[in-house]
Amino acid sequence: MDIARNPATPDGNPEMADAAVEPKAPPEIRREDYTPFPWLLPAIRIDFELGLEKTRVVATLDVRRNPAGEPSPAIRLNGDGIELVSLKCDGTDCADRMMDGDDLVVTLEGDKHTLEIVTEIDPSANSQLMGLYASNGMLCTQCEAEGFRRITFFPDRPDVLSTYTVRMSGPKAQFPVLLCNGNRTDTGEDGDSHWAEWHDPWPKPSYLFALVAGDLVARSDSFTTMSGRKVELNVWVRDGDLERTEHAMESLKRSMKWDEEVFGREYDLDLFNIVAVSDFNMGAMENKGLNIFNTKYILADPETATDGDYDGIEGVIGHEYFHNWSGNRITCRDWFQLSLKEGFTVLRDQLFSADMGSAPVKRIEDVRVLRGVQFPEDSGPLAHPIRPDSYREISNFYTATVYNKGAEVIRMMRTMAGEEAFRKGTDLYFERHDGEAATCEDFVKSIEEGAGLDLTRFRRWYSQAGTPKVGVALDHNGDVARLRLTQTVPPTPGQPDKQPMPIPLKLALFDRASGAHRGEELVVFDKDSAEFTFGGFAEKPVLSINRTFSAPVSIERDVARDDLVFLAARDDDPFARYEAMQDLMTGYLVAAVSGDLGDNEREAARADIAQAMQSVIEDGALDDLMRGELMSMPSQAYLAEQMLVADPGRIHAEREALKGDLGARLAPQFHALYDRAEKIAFSLDAEAKGARKVKTLVLAYAAASDPQKAAELAAHQYDRADNMTDRQGALMVLAGLDSPERTHKLLDFYNRYQGNALVIDKWFSLQAASLHPQVVDHVKALREHPDFTLRNPNRVRALYMAFAANPAAFHAADGEGYRMVADLILELDPINAQTAARFVPPLGRWRRIEAGRSALMHQALERIAAAPKLSRDTFEQVTRSLG
Ligand code: PHE
Ligand code: ZN
Repeated sequence: MDIARNPATPDGNPEMADAAVEPKAPPEIRREDYTPFPWLLPAIRIDFELGLEKTRVVATLDVRRNPAGEPSPAIRLNGDGIELVSLKCDGTDCADRMMDGDDLVVTLEGDKHTLEIVTEIDPSANSQLMGLYASNGMLCTQCEAEGFRRITFFPDRPDVLSTYTVRMSGPKAQFPVLLCNGNRTDTGEDGDSHWAEWHDPWPKPSYLFALVAGDLVARSDSFTTMSGRKVELNVWVRDGDLERTEHAMESLKRSMKWDEEVFGREYDLDLFNIVAVSDFNMGAMENKGLNIFNTKYILADPETATDGDYDGIEGVIGHEYFHNWSGNRITCRDWFQLSLKEGFTVLRDQLFSADMGSAPVKRIEDVRVLRGVQFPEDSGPLAHPIRPDSYREISNFYTATVYNKGAEVIRMMRTMAGEEAFRKGTDLYFERHDGEAATCEDFVKSIEEGAGLDLTRFRRWYSQAGTPKVGVALDHNGDVARLRLTQTVPPTPGQPDKQPMPIPLKLALFDRASGAHRGEELVVFDKDSAEFTFGGFAEKPVLSINRTFSAPVSIERDVARDDLVFLAARDDDPFARYEAMQDLMTGYLVAAVSGDLGDNEREAARADIAQAMQSVIEDGALDDLMRGELMSMPSQAYLAEQMLVADPGRIHAEREALKGDLGARLAPQFHALYDRAEKIAFSLDAEAKGARKVKTLVLAYAAASDPQKAAELAAHQYDRADNMTDRQGALMVLAGLDSPERTHKLLDFYNRYQGNALVIDKWFSLQAASLHPQVVDHVKALREHPDFTLRNPNRVRALYMAFAANPAAFHAADGEGYRMVADLILELDPINAQTAARFVPPLGRWRRIEAGRSALMHQALERIAAAPKLSRDTFEQVTRSLG
């Protein structure tokens, strides 16, 4: 075995090199430093001799000088923790090379070479789940963003596109199924071993490479595309899981059809494979022709999956499938452009799910995610533009900002252009950049030209972080209503001063007496302030603004409670109606928490909220799915976000008090609703889903007003349940109560589903997310449960993400919650850095939390920062959070 020369260590001892660079922060990569790669690699061939403990990889790269690049005397091949066995250049051993950190740098003189690189890896030792790893006896890969360099030395950047020919071989009994990107071109046997050859005709960056080898079974089907191509479809799972793949397959076929109809995009291979794996860092991955999924987003049946799980599967299947065009056919030039594929693809999956189910409810869910996750990110130390300017570890930028705000930004273009013109813009984008590694700027230009918009100022949405605050004031004089709008984009790390951005706001002015409006208008304002007047109003109208959440901004306005009650009952835009209910409750809770409400004011506000809630419960024109949205209280995170400095204890207490008050005042109405919903038999249609949603909401209100009655009802719902939505809903409520039923049902649930990992994940989550006062102790005990393991990201998230998102527990006043999360991060970091780093943001909120807790959060972060060896992932998140 060759030991590569390392300039930092004359004796070639890699340990010493490590020690020498240890204290240094990992380098910052900057967007403005982009340069094209000096070499092209049009075709590559890889030969895998597969084994769980030892896999040998022979990569043959055709290398040519890139006429568009700066001439370079060497080629840099990225590596990460892999061992070079041998290197040949044009057929002979190549000594003219050196290691630069983890990278292999090979001197190349002419314009055209063939490199043969042999590496050996141990997939079973790969706990990071990046590169080639073992999961439950099978082998699979995850290469986005920089995992391919853990397989072989390669220019692991998205602007280097190659066609791949892959040969995989391995023991037949252990790996009966061998899958890779593209089409299978040949197979053969060789004693106990067998092999398959695959060829992917579409040039792709290394992050889209994938292979799977294991003992798998498939649900197979086919789809005929709009031009008549018959595509074979397979969903691969472990034996025994096949019955739970029907929904995934149906979702895939619906996605394929939808993308043809709505975006004119057709699938481009004869084969589409999806594989489910139980150890996975994210939701799923769009590898060309071979999507790899977390089992959570594949497996479902009514007994084990909730309605939310079904929706999640449809959405993620759609998302990964849509990437075939927005991501694969057109990929990203560099990782700063991540939102080019992710923001656009999230928008596409949102529109798809809206078309498959209830569009207004889907819109509300999307806004809830944005406000619950992205707004806090945008107002904290980790704020970054949807197109970031720098990073140390790109895995940290798979964020709600890049994904969800990225989708909102493109949605605004669609709103301003109108659907038809927007489609012209996306058609132009796909046509112009097919086969390329493109930039966000390329996308904006295509929409601009194709849709006929001027997006000059709009581009600021790509470069400026922070949620704009829009001030809204409406006054009335004579018969004229005057609307005054102001905007400020708050300072964010590295961006003290901001410029105003175009903000499209849909609005309607309601006539108080008739309850009608004259039609919705779209105003786009792109200055610090603007004024709009509307004539013909004898009386001051009621303003409904940011309808459908047309802009991802935070609206600040002084609005009479009467107007909110009016809108909550009568707004014809379902989102605006939801918003009015949220505003009504938020306005009251923020005032109550800050302590500036007298008894009379408190009573008046509660009475108004109860009245609005009652009209929601009794409105015969509403479907239950929408009713459930209108009945939901604002989250504690959302309430905290409305305050400069939040006291999580007080927010929790006031919110529970309001819930209890509503539960008591409206007990008859809630119970009537429950009785009606209970009669609706199980099915997956909207009516039955709605019924399940309102039932569990009623239980939650009851739990806050009459815990004993709630425990009875919940236990009854649990026992009668013929589906996971009802059963989990009942158990969620019970988990928060101090009742003997709690213990019984938790035990029953565990015994009933022992062995089903996804359901046991729910069992962990329910307890970590519960309203029970002893959650901290429960989580400590669950940490020691034999079913808990740090090696499985789903299990870690089930326990600790649920805990970190449970304000009353995580923000325990003595700081125990913070210590537990810090302990987890330190313990998990060496095992799975990507997952560990995802637990830092909850601690990063310290600046916005009251002083006592804030100091404890800061301490927890400092303890992590002081650890002797941190991954790049965690290092970056912790230093930015302390910032
Ligand atoms: N690109 C994947 C998606 O959003 C997400 C992903 C990122 C998966 C990194 C794994 C690793 O569809
Ligand atoms: Zn994606």
